[in-house]
Amino acid sequence: MDIAAEVARLKREKDAVILAHYYVPSETQALADYVGDSFYLARLARTLDCSTIVLCGVSFMAESAKMLNPARTVLLPDPTADCPMAHMVRKADVDAVKAQYNDLAVVCYINSTAEIKSWSDVCVTSSNAVKVVRELPQHNILFIPDMHLGHYVSLQVPEKNFILNRGYCPIHHKMILAEVEELETQYPNAKVIAHPECPQEILDEADYIGSTKQMIDYVAESDAQEFIVLTVEGVRREMELATAGSGKRFYFTRTTPICVNMAKVTPDKVLACLRDGTGEVGMPDCVDAATTPLERMLELAAR
Ligand code: 13P
Ligand code: SF4
Repeated sequence: MDIAAEVARLKREKDAVILAHYYVPSETQALADYVGDSFYLARLARTLDCSTIVLCGVSFMAESAKMLNPARTVLLPDPTADCPMAHMVRKADVDAVKAQYNDLAVVCYINSTAEIKSWSDVCVTSSNAVKVVRELPQHNILFIPDMHLGHYVSLQVPEKNFILNRGYCPIHHKMILAEVEELETQYPNAKVIAHPECPQEILDEADYIGSTKQMIDYVAESDAQEFIVLTVEGVRREMELATAGSGKRFYFTRTTPICVNMAKVTPDKVLACLRDGTGEVGMPDCVDAATTPLERMLELAAR
């Protein structure tokens, strides 16, 4: 069966739009109407007026799309595709910090469950975290769940006091410095670009730090020909598309950075969920409290 042709037919029949994150397999990205980073997908999901949104990504992305656009049916091709970091913070720890500070904002990386968002004042993504935190009136910032993104933002906004949580993305957290150094030796002219979910010792190697989309824009605009790319390998497709014909080359660490959850979102599952209506995302009980920080992010990031 020609999966692409069948998906195109079903999209018309069901009035569906397919969104994909850069980390899902490239064959899945190729089926999508829109491919982007977490911020782009959240902003776009809110504006769509189709009947169904198929979110090719992990569950927090589909849940955010549902909360931002409740009238649409949102389908997640593999409902077990879940980001481990999205659960890595305890309410008791958040409450303890809230009790300690008066002038506090709880800043929640969008890679989190709706429940965790509901404890927070504002959400951020890796592409807008620095801007959003600078816009906040509070001096004290509890950043959850990602300690590495939180630490990166704290260095960009030194005038505020940061309290960090201990969550992390297992893929970026386990990036091996020796493997990065190996690449730097092999390709001495390459620019090193990294995602801020990487630990500081990896970020110390980077010429540029940014979200997936920002890294893609960087390689497209740079005069360099070679890039050591320190994030999940799925970005390669868009980097190659964005630089087609330029001869630019992209190198990833020997231990290939693959997100096993994003990898679950295969074309056959996209087809099956469109055909059968499976993987529908329900509205979380805490929808009001969880949507407020998402909306606040969209408002502050747009200033
Ligand atoms: P961005 O797409 O915002 O860079 O996020 C990366 C990520 O880990 C998504 O799960
Ligand atoms: Fe979560 Fe990391 Fe996978 Fe992104 S790459 S979904 S942060 S585990």
